[in-house]
Amino acid sequence: MRLDKFLADAGIGTRSEVKTAIRKRFVSVNGTLAKDPGMAVCETDMVLYKDQPVNTAKTGYFLMNKPSGCVCANKDDSKTVFDLMSMQDRKGLFTVGRLDKDTEGLLLLTDDGAFAHALTSPRRHVNKTYYFEGEGCLVEQAVAKAEEGIDIGDDKLTEPAKLVILTASPESKTVTGELTISEGRFHQVKRMMKKLGVTITYLKRLSIGDLCLDPNLLPGQYRPMTEEELALLQPERKKT
Ligand code: URA
Repeated sequence: MRLDKFLADAGIGTRSEVKTAIRKRFVSVNGTLAKDPGMAVCETDMVLYKDQPVNTAKTGYFLMNKPSGCVCANKDDSKTVFDLMSMQDRKGLFTVGRLDKDTEGLLLLTDDGAFAHALTSPRRHVNKTYYFEGEGCLVEQAVAKAEEGIDIGDDKLTEPAKLVILTASPESKTVTGELTISEGRFHQVKRMMKKLGVTITYLKRLSIGDLCLDPNLLPGQYRPMTEEELALLQPERKKT
């Protein structure tokens, strides 16, 4: 494998960041300073970054259809998402962001801090789409208001969000729709929809970036992510 890919896969940085690190002479291979980001390395080579061994331990990436009724925490009085996993699979994992106890849908679990950070960092603006059902009547121009940003009581307005109304019945005062947000504030969808006149009664995450929930996974089921799915979320993985 190329040295720059080896370093990027180990979470040292993006492809261009690790190339800079090599140029700055931060990387050595088997005791010799590396100069060529394209040099071939394998798992038995001793690769050091800033004099520290680069951890090539295999990282775990799992995708779960989170059911309602369990929390995204390592330990809790309630059932946790880790209780749904085998002892072997759950070892060292944490969730990539959180879903509320009563929220269902796409949840990623990993032991790769760089991967989780890239998806949850507010600066990266990764889109997350939620399907919702709610009670109430949408305020006028709800779609435009979601796009403009909403005051949900934080220091700043929410980032532009895309609201798609699927059904809205003024008679029964019920609404269904999809909301795409690029942040991960506490109870964000529920708080935004409340401001738009709707109390959420059901919430499910459908996608993170270009990765959609696997329709074959029943609530509570999980499986390892495929290389193709990882590449959807980490474009730099595609290059070899
Ligand atoms: N927004 C919410 O309100 N709840 C979630 O679980 C996720 C996003």
